Amino acid sequence: MLFRTSLLHVSVGRALVAAVVLSAFVGANGEVGVAQTAGSARASDAEGERFVDELLQKMTLEEKIGQMSQIALNTPEGPKRDERIVKGQVGSLLFVKDPKEIDRLQHLAMEKSRLHIPLIIGFDVIHGYRTIYPVPIAMAASWDPAVAEKAQTMAAREASAVGVRWTFGPMLDIARDPRWGRMMEGAGEDPYLGSRMAEAQVRGFQGKDVNHIADDHIMACIKHFAGYGAAEGGRDYDSSNISDEQLWNVYLPPFEAGVKAGAGSLMSAYMDLNGVPATGNKWLLTDVLRKKWGFNGFVVSDWDSVKSLATHGFASGPEDAAARAVNAGVDMEMTSTTFFDTLADAVKKGAVSQATIDAAVRDILMAKYRLGLFQQPYVSTGRAENELVSAEQREASRKAAERTAVLLRNEGGLLPLKKGLTSIAVIGPLADSKPDLMGSWSLAAHPEDTVTVVEGLTKRTAAGGPQVLFTKGVEIERVQPSIFDDQFPSPKPTLTTESQREAEFKHAIDLVKRADAAVLVLGEAQTMSGERASRSSLALPGKQQQLLEAAVATGKPVVLVLVNARPLDITWASQHVPAILDAWYPGTEAGNAISDLLFGDAVPGGKLPVTWPRDVGQVPIHYARNLTQIPNDWDTMYWDGSSAPLYAFGYGLSYTSFSVGGLKTSAAKVTAGGTIEVSVDVANAGKVAGDEVVQLYTHQRSGSASRPVRELKGFKRVTLKPGERQTVTLTLETKELGFWSPQTHAWSIEPGTFDLWVGTDSNAKDHTTFEVTPSK
Ligand code: NOJ
Repeated sequence: MLFRTSLLHVSVGRALVAAVVLSAFVGANGEVGVAQTAGSARASDAEGERFVDELLQKMTLEEKIGQMSQIALNTPEGPKRDERIVKGQVGSLLFVKDPKEIDRLQHLAMEKSRLHIPLIIGFDVIHGYRTIYPVPIAMAASWDPAVAEKAQTMAAREASAVGVRWTFGPMLDIARDPRWGRMMEGAGEDPYLGSRMAEAQVRGFQGKDVNHIADDHIMACIKHFAGYGAAEGGRDYDSSNISDEQLWNVYLPPFEAGVKAGAGSLMSAYMDLNGVPATGNKWLLTDVLRKKWGFNGFVVSDWDSVKSLATHGFASGPEDAAARAVNAGVDMEMTSTTFFDTLADAVKKGAVSQATIDAAVRDILMAKYRLGLFQQPYVSTGRAENELVSAEQREASRKAAERTAVLLRNEGGLLPLKKGLTSIAVIGPLADSKPDLMGSWSLAAHPEDTVTVVEGLTKRTAAGGPQVLFTKGVEIERVQPSIFDDQFPSPKPTLTTESQREAEFKHAIDLVKRADAAVLVLGEAQTMSGERASRSSLALPGKQQQLLEAAVATGKPVVLVLVNARPLDITWASQHVPAILDAWYPGTEAGNAISDLLFGDAVPGGKLPVTWPRDVGQVPIHYARNLTQIPNDWDTMYWDGSSAPLYAFGYGLSYTSFSVGGLKTSAAKVTAGGTIEVSVDVANAGKVAGDEVVQLYTHQRSGSASRPVRELKGFKRVTLKPGERQTVTLTLETKELGFWSPQTHAWSIEPGTFDLWVGTDSNAKDHTTFEVTPSK
């Protein structure tokens, strides 16, 4: 017999007050219990803590370990999974996306398990759930944290509508090596830009109140702590060796920003950091994360990364792996089952203390409490029907794609395309490919929702625009299998013989010859960027380069639209193709956004969040390098070519032109800890409205360690009408000038002389200096 715990919900403003009105039950295993009283459970965190502590006292060790276990869809399959939920042996599930199934599983957990603890359902909502938004590297290219915040707010609305209340994002790994496929998933190379994007995404996912995450928001999980982006050779999962100086000043700041923004959870990384696997790294997960930064959320491992501690040659076997992970600070194990299989024994043997287990479980239960899951774990299908890929979602995705595009070249003002064109050849393997335009983390998306570039441009034909002549010209074949092959099998090549391939190539070039202008949509297929999608070459895959060269050789005006999530080798194109628009992986509304951008209904205003190399031999490469022996010879550090990048960090053009000048600072001296106001006049000198991103860089002239030649310390994206002039003021906080010194092993703002530049990319020329004086 079971009396359902029924909850009385009373809305008081935005706070949901829940009270248990009937809570006697007979549990599945026969014992009589009293369910915990939720009281006014969402009213305060202190109440939450009390509630969780009471619950904890009622839990058996097995139930506690259950909360610490996350299982993936189908592992273990069907009935066994249900049985485990009923026994209280599961805290979380990942990759379940059917709202009815999530609702059923929550009913099992709430009604059939002894203590009625809801599940937390996780999913990789990285750049959208069903509606796909531009990939995170693109969001960073907007240089507008509001774009990232809005995209993640919208993604949270969709995900929560199906019952997914926890995302494994944002990814905050700094990436300076474009061979690494997961550059796609982060904000690029810079810790300052990365930190602002981290905060914005955490806010977007979780909403305003991190302690009471509203029903249409989801909990963030900042990842992969830490150093994953520095994988040797750009090879995914490979070891990272990072000096303390780089770790503190470059790789950790976005995580600290994410913690300060209130991220409710964090994921440990796969690889070993300086020899110690991140998932067993107590220094990272406890000393830095909890003790230094005061993180009070919970830590989940990456997929199988607890079990892998043995693969690393760190733990002696599964039991040792589980004990090392928990003792280091991992609260929940993703997918592998070492906690479930061995932790109880480890506690009995004294390898893990009860107190450590309790601390882990407390953090997990607090997360569920903060999400309001104890009060409302169920899913009503109506919300999903209204939210998924709604007109509002599409509009937000389209706007985001427009704001993230970066115009890399525009000789002779080829773009925007002139309205009077009668035909355009749209060529390339990505131009009409629905999955490829979405990008990697699109596991809940329906490719058929995507508007392709061909479709977006064809709509214009109907409205009197040019006729679209499309063919793909070449195919892209992936060499290695993708981890997403189950979900998105690489399309089977349709051009199977050499003569078919030659005929298709020729057909494409014939179309270019027939048209007034050509748009070549080239780059990487969906699964070539992302997890386990590192590349040893940055060349355009397959025969795309040859196709591009042949199109240019026709003498017709050619626009290259790049679909990518890492810099590709476009050195030839940068000299021979008059217009290059980097569209990244733009998402569901790709075709509409690209069509708007090509015809000037939207004006590109994005800027590069990564330095763009000329050649793969230059990587890793980033702008904030240290000055060395021959600082002015940055251009000639290679014998066989320039060492300067093709495009600088922060670079991007517009359909209009801006002048920036009149740099002023509010003071020539500032006390460490104080702020300086920095202002410049920005004027739109062209004929259309457009956006400029004002960027502020500093350099510390001398100190206890060499400091980078320039570091970004402020930015602002502004929109100006033609002829409009605006004074843009940035507040430089001297705390941003502080750094961890490899000499003193401490963080401080060192007094002295600083250079300051303001401009529109990392080569900004407007310069002044200021002094930082010691604080009293
Ligand atoms: C492994 C990835 O490294 C991680 O980022 C992701 O969240 C999990 N798989 C779950 O999909």
